[in-house]
Amino acid sequence: MTTTITVNGEPRDIDADPGTPLLYALRNDLGLLGARFGCGVGVCGACMVHVDGTPVPSCDTPLWSLRGKSVVTVEGLSPHPVQEAFLDGQAAQCGYCVTGIVMTAAALLERDAEPSREAVMSALDRHLCRCGAQQRMVEAVLQAGRRDSDSDSDSDSDSDSDRSSGTGTEA
Ligand code: FES
Ligand code: FES
Repeated sequence: MTTTITVNGEPRDIDADPGTPLLYALRNDLGLLGARFGCGVGVCGACMVHVDGTPVPSCDTPLWSLRGKSVVTVEGLSPHPVQEAFLDGQAAQCGYCVTGIVMTAAALLERDAEPSREAVMSALDRHLCRCGAQQRMVEAVLQAGRRDSDSDSDSDSDSDSDRSSGTGTEA
């Protein structure tokens, strides 16, 4: 049976049982390998994707539940300030858990552009990292939030200076 779901902005037909976990369809049918299999039961976070902007474990999300919803994988997110901050801070070791963590962090920054350390730790709490790189990951997410805010204030001050120098868009 074919289920049509929207993945990274495009409708995709998946010929599989509607109860198939999204993770299997992403990796086996659509060739999107960013979401990873860890526990298979929704507890480690390695397979995290966004469904209508909310991070969900794709291993625990059947295809039938996604009709009319929008799925975004790490491939659809790139490039993102969180990924840049992870690279700059070398915030990973083996990297297996990172794509899931990036998805959760990106969703957090959508809700809260400059989160507190506690908010970042709370958001990432559900993710397992067997390499013990969590501290560097928390720092990277904080850095990404600051970077986003800096670029927002830069563009604000650019428009302020545009206005004050008369180079704005006013007629
Ligand atoms: S593989 Fe999905 S939460 Fe662990
Ligand atoms: S970096 Fe290896 S599991 Fe997290």
